[in-house]
Amino acid sequence: MMNQITINEYLGLYLDKNYKQVTNLANFAAIIKEMVPQLNWVGFYLYDGKELYLGPFQGKAAVQTIPMGEGVCGTSAIKQEIIIVDDVHAYPGHIACDDASNAEIVIPIIKDNKLIGVLDIDSPVIKRFDKKTAETLRKSVDFLFDFL
Ligand code: SME
Repeated sequence: MMNQITINEYLGLYLDKNYKQVTNLANFAAIIKEMVPQLNWVGFYLYDGKELYLGPFQGKAAVQTIPMGEGVCGTSAIKQEIIIVDDVHAYPGHIACDDASNAEIVIPIIKDNKLIGVLDIDSPVIKRFDKKTAETLRKSVDFLFDFL
């Protein structure tokens, strides 16, 4: 099952400040998808100062841009807070990308008070993300800061 030390140790093997940001984000998405059970989509939407655009991800092809304030990602980005959605079908304004997705968590990535983007994770399992899982994922995002 999920083990914080193992995930961050694994991340430590692949992330490196000498690599480009896109390279570190790509391996981060791959490692979360591999290590955390019951996920069907893991990836980044990055902020260009105006809107969110699709970054490195693991999963099905997804919407290319998300306006700030829209969907779960745009809402998390504008509020700058983690959003856990137990059932995406009950979330007004949810942007569907993969029919398999039933639950979602979005974690904003804010470095030095600057919004970099969000980490978006989908699961086919309703109520997949509890506070403990959110905390584990947030710690992995904290770990990522050093490599951005
Ligand atoms: N569900 C997201 C859109 C991105 S896909 O899940 C990959 C949202 O509502 O913002």
